[in-house]
Amino acid sequence: MENVQNYITEHRDRFLEELLDLLRIPSVSADPAYQKDVEATAKFVAQALRKAGADKVERCPTKGYPIVYGEKIIDPALPTILVYGHYDVQPPDPIELWESGPFDPVIKKAKGHPKGAIFARGACDDKGQMYMHLKAFEAMMKAKALPCNVKFMIEGEEEVGSENLAPFCKKNKKKLAADVVLISDTSIISNKVPSITVGLRGLSYVEVEVTGPNRDLHSGVYGGGVANPINVLSQMIASLHDKRCRINIPGFYEDVEVVGKKERQQMNEAPFNLNTYKRNLGIKEVDGERHYSTIERTSIRPTLDVNGIWGGYIGEGAKTVLPSKAYAKISMRLVPNQDPHKITKLFAAHFKSIAPPSVKVKVTPHHGGDPAVTPTDSDEYRAAEMAMEKTFGKKPIPQRGGGSIPIVALFEKVLGIKSVLMGFGLDSDAIHSPNEHYGLFNYYKGIETIPYYYHYYRELKEKE
Ligand code: BES
Ligand code: MN
Ligand code: MN
Repeated sequence: MENVQNYITEHRDRFLEELLDLLRIPSVSADPAYQKDVEATAKFVAQALRKAGADKVERCPTKGYPIVYGEKIIDPALPTILVYGHYDVQPPDPIELWESGPFDPVIKKAKGHPKGAIFARGACDDKGQMYMHLKAFEAMMKAKALPCNVKFMIEGEEEVGSENLAPFCKKNKKKLAADVVLISDTSIISNKVPSITVGLRGLSYVEVEVTGPNRDLHSGVYGGGVANPINVLSQMIASLHDKRCRINIPGFYEDVEVVGKKERQQMNEAPFNLNTYKRNLGIKEVDGERHYSTIERTSIRPTLDVNGIWGGYIGEGAKTVLPSKAYAKISMRLVPNQDPHKITKLFAAHFKSIAPPSVKVKVTPHHGGDPAVTPTDSDEYRAAEMAMEKTFGKKPIPQRGGGSIPIVALFEKVLGIKSVLMGFGLDSDAIHSPNEHYGLFNYYKGIETIPYYYHYYRELKEKE
């Protein structure tokens, strides 16, 4: 292990340069304008895997972007780790709010990162975190100290719902056979307080369209006489929550997992400062479902949020117009036992039922995903705990996260493999936002910790 860590120290600068090169390719999976770049990124990752020492590296074609695969099997009798990550990123907009180019990485100080952070789209989510695994693997290979078999599956469609990953997994069960899926695509509490994510929320995402008159109208000539779809949509959306911030859709809470008192108490013992939270977000007060703490609201409780709303005239100056249509995109974060298909159906039926007869409503479902919880009483989890304790000098706290990685549930369903979410980002790293960044401390800490995971995992498995 000493040799592995020495190799990392010796190649620190190059490890960073390589990540910066990776961040320069704008792999935005949502926007077809970036198609060539997303494909170039797959090539970059495949080459990097090959150079690091992986065998059988290939870019597996799908109906969308390729899945990069590579492996190193040292002994079939040893445990196998399947590393999952994604090379695609979210769109950079609103671009004018970036202090430096989203695909022109710069290193500077940031909140929580006194030693500096890399500013670029994908720095934390997930190029920076995914690349740590390639560099840790390279170090173990070069130091001739790879303790386990490893398989890499790096996809390019995570940010758009991973639609082609399920068919790929179903077709390649043998190829992907492993003992654990190791993922770094989540966060820790802070650089001084390590944690391991043990739960993810599911997702149901819908778009709604409300149509009033068959064309835009003069808001004076017709105003007052017909329904304005923006007014109607606003009212409909407002009615989706009650005064206690509970969601007003019949049946929405029916399957929600009830978390026990003890577990809730433990959750709320995790270090969390509400004042710092509010200050960082520039808000005077938090808001959410009554009788739940902020930690609970953002992890074990489901949500419904408008992600975007538009319609009518939004250009310069005033145009007196009564629009024909209004739209909104709505996300619902789901918790264990809630089924995204069922929730989407409940939403659509309810939303149509509350529409006044003066408008037509269309609901279009987008991607969704199942929630997931991962065990803490397994060798797989224990290895992560030991590895982080070794490099942070502190035992990590298990914590449920609020985000979604739909493939975690899928891996369990299709491949029968449990995941470990050993992420190294911070919630304040602005993923999906302008000025996304990833701490240098976090990048290197990840690279140092991952080899210990392999080491302890093998050790624990041998004791069995
Ligand atoms: N890495 C994130 C998920 C995440 C971030 C989980 C931080 C926990 C903590 C992932 O790339 C992501 O953004 N997922 C999407 C879902 C997907 C279906 C578009 C999300 O959560 O919005
Ligand atoms: Mn991610
Ligand atoms: Mn993301």
